[in-house]
Amino acid sequence: MNKQEFIEKHAISRKNTNSLKWDALGERFGNPNLTAAWVADMEFKAPQQVLDAIKSRVDHGVFGYSFVWDSYYEAFINWERERHGYAIDKEWMRFSTGIVTALYWFVNAFTKPSESVAILTPVYYPFHNAVKDTGRNLVTCELIQENGVYEIDFDTFEKQIAENDVKLFIQCSPHNPVGRVWKEDELKKVLEICERHDVLVVSDEIHQDLVFAGHKHIPSAIIEGGKYSDRIITVTAPSKTFNLAGLLVSHIIIPNEQLRKTYDEYVNTVNQTEVNVLGMTGAEAAYRHGSDWLEGLLAVIESNYKHLKDTLLGAAPELIISPLEGTYLTWIDLRAYINPQETKEFIQDKCGVAIDFGEWFSASCQGFIRINLATEPKFIEHISKQITEHLPEKVR
Ligand SMILES: Cc1ncc(COP(=O)(O)O)c(C=O)c1O
Repeated sequence: MNKQEFIEKHAISRKNTNSLKWDALGERFGNPNLTAAWVADMEFKAPQQVLDAIKSRVDHGVFGYSFVWDSYYEAFINWERERHGYAIDKEWMRFSTGIVTALYWFVNAFTKPSESVAILTPVYYPFHNAVKDTGRNLVTCELIQENGVYEIDFDTFEKQIAENDVKLFIQCSPHNPVGRVWKEDELKKVLEICERHDVLVVSDEIHQDLVFAGHKHIPSAIIEGGKYSDRIITVTAPSKTFNLAGLLVSHIIIPNEQLRKTYDEYVNTVNQTEVNVLGMTGAEAAYRHGSDWLEGLLAVIESNYKHLKDTLLGAAPELIISPLEGTYLTWIDLRAYINPQETKEFIQDKCGVAIDFGEWFSASCQGFIRINLATEPKFIEHISKQITEHLPEKVR
């Protein structure tokens, strides 16, 4: 599907639909009239086949207890194999109502209180919370960047792991918010380090399908023919790919039997294993029929990114906008123009836009913003205009 057709068929206003992104602006940002470009969901209806599948399940009229049916496994496993080359065995799969919830379970299941868990920052803020809220020691290793291109500082990462006796590493691949799609050699180096220090890896691959031309997502579990898969738990979901976050479906893939046993024993203590029948119905249809929709979505995101980048850099060439290799979240360093302490005043009060602030992802990132590109071009055009019109003269 092309960009125009996608927009015509799927774009929709979400105001007054109890949308966190739009209808909680007053509560979250203190101003209900901002243009919402924060939390990671979209102003697009899910693929028509998803809506049809859910409607037909609703028409049956019964919403009793359910289980994960065979054709669900088949649809998801095919998607992973065909798109990402990961051959998953049904026995390895578990489910949760959200990846963030699952992160808390992993920390509880696989580490003891006060043991260390590592993350590469700046990173999606619930990674920080899942470690801190469970009373573990958070070890952050900053990515290094040059002109907005982020890389892993492998030496520091290994040093931090060794010094803090890290037990678990939570990886973000592709990486939210810096937009990197990690290359094979980068993933391999990370896994070698984790193996040397016997660190378990949770690889959050929720953005796996949102990858742009010239880049390829590689599941960590298939690096070097699956050499490291016994120490990897992969999490994925249809929620980012097909805009289904509210349906609460996510996958946990654990190839190693002993890790599965530990996981199952933990999950028994919280007795949280049920699935949502409408969520699974919609997700199955998305994996079976959503490719064309996804192609249209990616075209919209790419074009929105180009518009934002060209407009902003045309007016303010010293802004630093990270290359968008994957995800639909663009990461912008405003510090050449905005005093970092005044970011909120600038973007919210002057520009009227709700974004995710850099310091949510790392204490070092005040003055950065994350803008959600998975929306109608008219919003991106408005945001670009607001930013260029309100940018002050350079401050440094
Ligand atoms: C890296 C990453 N993991 C997890 C999530 C959220 O997952 P869930 O809604 O399944 O908890 C997001 C949402 O933006 C994300 O970017």
